Amino acid sequence: MSQPHVLLLGAPGAGKGTQSKRIVEEYGVDHITTGDALRANKGMDISDLGLEYDTPGAYMDAGELVPDEVVNEIVVTALGEADGFVLDGYPRNLEQAEFLDERTDLDAVLVFDVSEAELVDRLTGRRVCPECGANYHVEFDQPETEGVCDECGADLIQREDDTEETVRERLRVFRENTEPVIEYYRGSDAFAEVDGEGTPDEVWDEVEAAIDERV
Ligand code: AP5
Ligand code: MG
Repeated sequence: MSQPHVLLLGAPGAGKGTQSKRIVEEYGVDHITTGDALRANKGMDISDLGLEYDTPGAYMDAGELVPDEVVNEIVVTALGEADGFVLDGYPRNLEQAEFLDERTDLDAVLVFDVSEAELVDRLTGRRVCPECGANYHVEFDQPETEGVCDECGADLIQREDDTEETVRERLRVFRENTEPVIEYYRGSDAFAEVDGEGTPDEVWDEVEAAIDERV
């Protein structure tokens, strides 16, 4: 059997990255995440596209979407290298969803539901490892030593777009651009809604069951 093709949808902070890690471990698929790819290329010169800003990082720090031509390119390359995958953070608007449709099929499209108050708490409390990418939370998922990565010992940092002001803007952009993407997939056999408010283990039980029912 070929490897599963999984898409995770949900607001910023819904737990897409947290659950993607578990999907990678359980199913041996690739993690395709436009957010991480863009963070690794924040300073890339895109001035030749003649758009509002000259780097992906300028869009990200404002909480806005990076232009489709930059993001689609990342996804095409990653899909070409993957057998199975979990796609996290893409598509974020209808144009990206249609672009994806022409390039691959999806076995499971999972939407995480989490309230806005909980999203803000999760994001403003998130801490990340700049070296290995591990994620923590100051309250919900503390490292053994405060401020230090359990995996590699580096000092943890706060993502630049996890300030309360930028989080509010990201949530607004989500409602405007990405909620229509959820409606786009609703009704397909691959689609399932997951309660994203439980503990990571509780959410994982639902995620695993929903994938296994669909592949
Ligand atoms: P991206 O990095 O994709 O960010 P996002 O979608 O805003 O989502 P997050 O990574 O913030 O949240 P998550 O759902 O992964 O949550 P996590 O598991 O970490 O994108 C960043 C930017 O890049 C965008 O704003 C945009 O500019 C650009 N971009 C990216 N893709 C793009 C695209 N396709 N098109 C255009 N632009 C694009 O969890 C959050 C926190 O909560 C963690 O601290 C975690 O420990 C904690 N947590 C997780 N699960 C639970 C739980 N069940 N209970 C309690 N705490 C939990
Ligand atoms: Mg993430």
